[in-house]
Amino acid sequence: MKYHLAPVQGHTDQAYRHFHNMVYNTQIEYYTPFIRWEKEGVRKRDMADAFGELNSPQGVVPQIIFKNETELRNLVETLIEAGAKRIDLNMGCPFPLQTARGRGAAAICNHSLAEEIAKIVNSHPEINFSVKMRLGLKEENEWENLLEILNTIPLTHITLHPRIARQQYGGEINIEAFRRFVEKSKNKVIYNGDITSPEDVEDIKLQFPELENVMIGRGVLGRPSLFNEISEGKEWSREERIDKMLEFHRLLLRHYSNTLIGGEHQILSKIKPFWEYAEEEIGRKSWKSIKKATNMAKYNSAVATIMR
Ligand SMILES: Cc1cc2nc3c(=O)[nH]c(=O)nc-3n(C[C@H](O)[C@H](O)[C@H](O)COP(=O)(O)O)c2cc1C
Repeated sequence: MKYHLAPVQGHTDQAYRHFHNMVYNTQIEYYTPFIRWEKEGVRKRDMADAFGELNSPQGVVPQIIFKNETELRNLVETLIEAGAKRIDLNMGCPFPLQTARGRGAAAICNHSLAEEIAKIVNSHPEINFSVKMRLGLKEENEWENLLEILNTIPLTHITLHPRIARQQYGGEINIEAFRRFVEKSKNKVIYNGDITSPEDVEDIKLQFPELENVMIGRGVLGRPSLFNEISEGKEWSREERIDKMLEFHRLLLRHYSNTLIGGEHQILSKIKPFWEYAEEEIGRKSWKSIKKATNMAKYNSAVATIMR
């Protein structure tokens, strides 16, 4: 059974996914952060992230975000040409920059776009498609019309984050709407939202025994051993968690020190965000010192204060 690491822009890039897999070595499905259609096509760095060598051996599912039929088709064709066998469709992004243009959660109510998705999925039986979505942009029942169409096509699964876009990533999870969604979906459903411990997963599985699996984002970014702890059915000791986490972050630092050419500042601005969700795991003091570190010596001293 594969767990799913949620795509998070600025965090789950190919180096993160590769070294996470190397250190933690669990069965995980990884996704790229969303890929967009720009005037000139897909950005080179997005293609590199989706198809670069660090995607081996763990593999990755490229995720796309689109506002209309043309963007959707262009993206799907570009990825297939590049060798993709799996494609995830983002219909949940709540960022106003995307939703104002009709992408992400704003696509949930776009009926003609949903019909185009069905056409594309049906015309590419060789590709496994999945959808990642929310309940709606403004209302908690916007998913209903979309689901009617998604029910007519074979998806590997639908990942549902049971909030509306206006909530972004905070506020109440709407578990009753999630329940209705699971009952009505003909495709398998994956739960996503606010999981931070093995007990949270147990709780969800008890409530929804038919659930395909869970996808976790911030919980794993803050505690990268979480999937191991869930699959082993017990929490790791603090020492074990911190030792592995430090090894993981050392590998990321070494990778970016070897590949970024812009000097210390560029390396720091790349690696510091990897700690963003780890305040609880590493303690407020160390977390703040890492955040404030202005050079590599200060960064290394801050990391050295993390208590096992
Ligand atoms: C900063 C940030 C960037 C994100 N980028 C993406 C993205 O590119 N694609 C996507 O489908 N979801 C994205 N998400 C949403 C996550 O995949 C996930 O659905 C969300 O964090 C809720 O799950 P969690 O509570 O386990 O973190 C992003 C979330 C955050 C906070």
